[in-house]
Amino acid sequence: MHILLIGAGGREHALAWKLAQSPSTSRLSAAPGNPGIAQHAAIVDLNVDDFAAVAQFCIDQAVGLVVVGPEAPLVAGLADVLRGHAIPVFGPSAAAAMLEGSKGFVKQLCAQHGIPTAAFAQHDAVDAAIADLPRFGLPVVIKADGLAAGKGVIIANSAAEAEAAVRDMLGGGFGAAGASVVIEEFMVGEEVSLFALCDGATILPFGSAQDHKRVGDGDIGPNTGGMGAYSPAPCLTPVLETAAMDKIIRPTVAAMAAAGTPYVGVLYAGLMLTADGPKLVEYNCRFGDPECQVLLPRYTSDLAALLLAAATGGLAACDAPFAPDSAITIVLAAKGYPGTPQKGGAIHLPDGLPPHCQIFHAGTTRTGGVLVANGGRVLNVGAQAATLSHAQAAAYALVDRVDFADGFYRKDIGWRGVQ
Ligand code: AMP
Ligand code: GLY
Repeated sequence: MHILLIGAGGREHALAWKLAQSPSTSRLSAAPGNPGIAQHAAIVDLNVDDFAAVAQFCIDQAVGLVVVGPEAPLVAGLADVLRGHAIPVFGPSAAAAMLEGSKGFVKQLCAQHGIPTAAFAQHDAVDAAIADLPRFGLPVVIKADGLAAGKGVIIANSAAEAEAAVRDMLGGGFGAAGASVVIEEFMVGEEVSLFALCDGATILPFGSAQDHKRVGDGDIGPNTGGMGAYSPAPCLTPVLETAAMDKIIRPTVAAMAAAGTPYVGVLYAGLMLTADGPKLVEYNCRFGDPECQVLLPRYTSDLAALLLAAATGGLAACDAPFAPDSAITIVLAAKGYPGTPQKGGAIHLPDGLPPHCQIFHAGTTRTGGVLVANGGRVLNVGAQAATLSHAQAAAYALVDRVDFADGFYRKDIGWRGVQ
C-alpha cells in the first residue's frame, strides 16, 4: 500500500518511522515533511493546504491511505475532501474534528450525555461573561472556543485577571477562535493523556502518556506544546483507565455516531484524575506531540494495517499490542522557545543510535548540507527500557551526544512517573 503522510513535526517523524517498518507499507510519501521524515519517506512537493491537489496526488499515485498528523487540516475538512474521492483517510471529518475545534461543542456534548468534566458556561458577550464569573470561584479557567495553537487557555487567579482574559478573547485578541469563550471550574488533580483509535463505531484503546507542558524544570515558566513525555502513565491505573473509557470516551464516540458525524482517527483525551474520578479536560482529534513519539515505539505490530482498519471501519477485527516497557522522549528546543525561537542553529547528531533509542526531527531543515534548527521544538530524543528510570537514563545519555549549542531541554522529564 502507498501511504501519504501529512505533516512536518516530531509526531509525523515518529509516524513515518513506524509506518516505514510496517509490512503493509510498500511506499511512503510525505508532505511537507522534514529532514527526519525524509529518512523514511519520499518528500513530495505538494501544497497540503490545497485539498484538491492532495486528492489529485492520491488518485494519480494510487495512494491507499492518507495519515493526517496535525489538527488544522482536519478541522478545515481535508478528510472530507479525500473521502469524497473514496480515498481512505486516518483522521476525522471536519464535523467530528469539532471535538478539538470547538471547546464549547465538547462541553455541550458532555452536558447532554453526562460525561464528567468541569462545570462550564459559554458566552459571546463581554458583560454577560463577566457577570457570570463569580459563581466559578478562583482560580477560574477562561478558554477561547476555537483553535488557538495551544495559547487559548488562561488560568486566572484573580477576578481582574479573569475579566482581562474575557475582554482580550472576546475583543478579538484571539481572532475567530475568540468569537466565544468558555468559562470553566478549575479542576484539581494529576493530568494524563489517554488515546483511542476509532473507526466510527469500534474503539481500540491505544495507550496513555503524560507530558510536561511548562518550559522549565520543576514545571515552572510559560506553557509550551510539550517539553517531553513518557508512556505509559503510571498514575492511570487499569481501574481509572476503564472508568475513563466507559464514562468519557465510549459515550463521546457513541454520541458522535448517533449525530451522523462518526469519529474516525485517534481520539486523544486530556484527563484530570480528580478526587471524584477521571474528568475530561479537552479532546484532541490527532496524536499528541510529543506523546506520539512515546506511544509508537511501544506499539509492536503493523501500524499501517491498523490505521487502514480504523480508516475503513475494520477495527473490530484488530487489537493493539504494546510492549510492557516504558518509553520517554526529551524535547530539545531552540533558545527563545516558547517565545520567538532562535532559528538556524547548527545541529550535529551522533553517528548511529544505541538500541531502543530514536532521535525524531521536529523543527529542523538543511541549509547547504548542514542540519539546522527551524522551529521552537527542534528534536525529540527518545528511549525505551524495562523501567521508566532506565529509559530516562538512556534518553539523557543520548541527549548528551547531540551537539546543538543554540538549544536547551528540561533535565527532569519523567519525574512524576519515576516518583
Ligand atoms: P487545554 O488546551 O484545554 O488542554 O488546556 C490547557 C491546560 O490548561 C490543560 O492541560 C490543563 O493543565 C489546564 N486546564 C484546562 N482546563 C482546566 C480546568 N478546567 N481545570 C484545571 N486546569 C485546566
Ligand atoms: N502535547 C500536547 C498536545 O499535543 O496537544
